[in-house]
Amino acid sequence: MILTLITIIFGCSLSFLSFQVQANTCNTYNHPQYGTGQCIDRNLCPNSLYLSGLCELQPSNIVCCFSVEPMKEEFRAIWIATVTNIDWPSSKTATPAEQQSELLNILNKVEELNMNAVIFQIRPASDAFYSSSLEPWSFYLTGTQGVAPSPFWDPLAFIINEAHKRNIEVHAWLNPYRARTGGATYELAPTNMAKRFPEYAYPYANNIWMDPGAAVVQQFTVNVTADIVSRYAVDGIHIDDYFYPYSDGTEFPDAATYATYQAQGGKLNKADWRRLNVNNLIQSMYTTMHAIRPKVKFGVSPFGIWKSGTPAGITGLSSYDSLYADSRMWLEQGLVDYMAPQLYWAIDPPAQSYPVLLKWWIEQSTKGRHVYAGNAAYKMAQGAVQWQANEIVRQVNITRSMRDRLALGNIYFSTKEIMRNVKGIQEELAKLYKQKAIIPKMNWL
Ligand SMILES: *[C@@H]1O[C@H](CO)[C@@H](O)[C@H](O)[C@H]1NC(C)=O
Ligand SMILES: *[C@@H]1O[C@H](CO)[C@@H](O)[C@H](O)[C@H]1NC(C)=O
Repeated sequence: MILTLITIIFGCSLSFLSFQVQANTCNTYNHPQYGTGQCIDRNLCPNSLYLSGLCELQPSNIVCCFSVEPMKEEFRAIWIATVTNIDWPSSKTATPAEQQSELLNILNKVEELNMNAVIFQIRPASDAFYSSSLEPWSFYLTGTQGVAPSPFWDPLAFIINEAHKRNIEVHAWLNPYRARTGGATYELAPTNMAKRFPEYAYPYANNIWMDPGAAVVQQFTVNVTADIVSRYAVDGIHIDDYFYPYSDGTEFPDAATYATYQAQGGKLNKADWRRLNVNNLIQSMYTTMHAIRPKVKFGVSPFGIWKSGTPAGITGLSSYDSLYADSRMWLEQGLVDYMAPQLYWAIDPPAQSYPVLLKWWIEQSTKGRHVYAGNAAYKMAQGAVQWQANEIVRQVNITRSMRDRLALGNIYFSTKEIMRNVKGIQEELAKLYKQKAIIPKMNWL
């Protein structure tokens, strides 16, 4: 979309520019991406965008320069979590008009802060925040799974339309295998995965979790992805850290599917087989969605530690061993267009040091895929030691110090801390994001 805009500006007929000249000078023309420019020698505007018609009373070497340096390209996003109504809608019993107005408030704030993307959770638990023939409307939208909003509206269509008006990208965020989340007791609709494939739906850690080793379940999740990409103008598809569930101390009850795999000649041990199942999902989602719309981006935001002990000095839960997510491999092999590791730790404590982990992640991107850091805005509002906003500012500065090595932006979890302006974070973000930035280009798409 943004590329299109630039193409339009550069490629458009002179009549478009002369129209602008009649109405604007360089100092008054408000470029939709870069704000107002200044009339300077074109040699002083080397890497920036310039429009020639807007300084026509000046010598011919003087152009209207829109300085897009130093932050020419930067991904600046928030996660909008809908599960358990974390960020939106604040209430599942609010009217559609109220829910829409809340969503517009979020988009207006994103625009005002010069941010450029939202990661919108549309399938938190085998349910839908969009009109679907495959899965039921979400309990978190209407209060009853399977019941459509009344009066009818489609939140995904709505947010895409409103976000694109504001030059904001929408990445649709899906949870692949969760059928009902921790402790919820609401009734599942017949099209929920747990009802479609009851033999592969397990109560686990208070959730209902689908078996990632069941081919039919995996294919269904891929089909849901394909359906979304076919029908909605999303800019990206996004999945987070949930593959196999976080352990509750008991064994995940997939002995039967593993036995089937072995009976068919499978030789991998159980842990490697589970990783293979997750790898297959990633590969299949990537291939399928790009076959439908090649330019839609695929992003994953895994738990921020791949393996405890890697790199040296880092300790914590291993995504590789506990969630069976070989996230490093996806980045190395280019099975994602961007990786957004959840680096939800502070800079200074060494055990999960933000800069050490970020540096490690960018070093794994041997195919040049982008890395956008996930930043824990929620830690300004939760926990024993609440962060000051300064921690976030320093983290963005550190990210920017690695921008030459593919650290190309930040995603904040989650929206509500930004909207509530916890610790004055809005003022800090406004200082960090003084100018608009374009979304980093992905030349391989
Ligand atoms: C996935 O979609 C294909 C093509 O429409 C269909 O043949 C297949 O049955 C679907 N699989 C599942 C598990 O729904
Ligand atoms: C972040 O970087 C900016 C620009 O380099 C600098 O002015 C600011 O002091 C830095 N803030 C922190 C908290 O490091």
